[in-house]
Amino acid sequence: MTILEVSGQLIESTVQKMSLTSVLLAASVVTLTLAYLSRALFGQQQQRSRHQKLPPHIPSSVPFLGHAVAFGKSPIEFLEQAYEKYGPVVSFTMVGKTFTYLLGSEAAALMFNSKNDDLNAEDVYARLTTPVFGKGVAYDVPNALFLEQKKMLKTGLNIAHFKGHVQIIEEETKEYFKRWGDRGERNLFDALSELIILTASRCLHGCEIRGMLDERVAQLYADLDGGFTHAAWLLPGWLPLPSFRRRDQAHLEIKKIFYNVIKKRREATEKNDDILQTLIDATYKDGRPLNDDEIAGMLIGLLLAGQHTSSTTSSWMGFFLARDRALQERCYSEQKTVCGEDLPPLQYDQLKDLSLLDRCLKETLRLRPPIMTMMRMAKTPQKVGDYIIPPGHQVCVSPTVNHRLQDTWDERLEFNPDRYLHDNPAAGEKFAYIPFGAGRHRCIGENFAYVQIKTIWSTLLRLYDFELVDGHFPPVNYTTMIHTPHNPVIRYTRRTTQTQK
Ligand code: HEM
Repeated sequence: MTILEVSGQLIESTVQKMSLTSVLLAASVVTLTLAYLSRALFGQQQQRSRHQKLPPHIPSSVPFLGHAVAFGKSPIEFLEQAYEKYGPVVSFTMVGKTFTYLLGSEAAALMFNSKNDDLNAEDVYARLTTPVFGKGVAYDVPNALFLEQKKMLKTGLNIAHFKGHVQIIEEETKEYFKRWGDRGERNLFDALSELIILTASRCLHGCEIRGMLDERVAQLYADLDGGFTHAAWLLPGWLPLPSFRRRDQAHLEIKKIFYNVIKKRREATEKNDDILQTLIDATYKDGRPLNDDEIAGMLIGLLLAGQHTSSTTSSWMGFFLARDRALQERCYSEQKTVCGEDLPPLQYDQLKDLSLLDRCLKETLRLRPPIMTMMRMAKTPQKVGDYIIPPGHQVCVSPTVNHRLQDTWDERLEFNPDRYLHDNPAAGEKFAYIPFGAGRHRCIGENFAYVQIKTIWSTLLRLYDFELVDGHFPPVNYTTMIHTPHNPVIRYTRRTTQTQK
């Protein structure tokens, strides 16, 4: 082992034991030198813009680190207090970077209506995504090209494919949950994370790749996924951290598996009808087809973009249903009303009629949107209200904050899926409800996520009755990039057998 590897392991094991706050602290040390340089630049910039009105800046007596500790501990509370005190546009410093949040629908419009050249996504996301997805896709290419790639993916995420996906997801769910037996207490988040890799692999990658998903490949995905951490976002990519090395190794090995499958598909005389085939047949506007590396990168992106988002959302939904048993019973009754008393296999066309389940998912995404902050780098001065946001600020919108603003939502912290049946004050505000983002970076996976989560929960409601363990509703774990449930153990009891098919 070289000295670099040993020191990398040391840094890594320390980072693993650290909370977000401490990672920020460590990052501050690593980037201190850079900060001094950029401070000189910022100073010049602030002098330049003295005559402009900058957004209110939350003062901090902690040099460089700024508000990293308070924000890391409880970001939503921090932002809500900032909104109360300073209004919808507010800046603060963390680890030498200035973050400007646009809070509420009106302010958020700036981000969603902006051009990528003005508020840029690659500058803030590429260092996380490029090592995981690879070069030539997503934030590694100019946004115009990524938009073409998104269009190709969207072509594959169509109703004809969804019809087949419902059956696949129901089968995978039944098979996976056999291991849970008749009753017990288990970690729901772990189970749904594993299940969602299986369902997404089969639906989004095709049966050949799903067929190879054994423990070794699952470990490769886990190593790749280890690239999505605060540490990867904050620490320089050249650091010899074991998690970076594992991520890079997993990337190569997964791509090798995908190349083989793509090669066989290209050689086959008969065409499949799935998303992989859609990508193989797709061409850019200039007529160029995707090469194998681009297809493989897009397959990784498809799987990972939906992995944490869908597994976190479906877990939170489980806990909301377990907390409100009457609501859970209404959802179970809805299964029978819509699909038939003897609960035959689910059909795609029935999903839209499961309207209570739909509203439960919508409400889960309101209170626990998995992506807590969307971020862009200001490349040009941005006017919002009376303020000018200067270049260099990281401009942010938080779905979590917009989804619970006092000015917008009645009984804002209540889980009430029926709120969408009535006139709802948020309906008049374009960006009050944005779990899937908006504008040019809007999610393309929304429909698939709804199909996946509604099918999983239809199957689970038919299998089990769920309750909280001793009334424990998991608090939010703020140390992970996506806000997962902390200690997510749920109690379950099998429903009577005559209702199961
Ligand atoms: C509950 C599930 C999901 C949620 C809540 C979610 C949320 C989001 C959000 C908020 C964005 C906007 C990011 C930004 O503006 O910075 C986004 C973008 C995106 N999502 Fe999702 N997503 C989900 C599932 C999926 C799935 C299943 C896929 C793929 C099948 C997917 C693929 C994408 C892609 C390709 C983008 C575009 C990024 C861009 O253009 O910059 N997502 N998603």
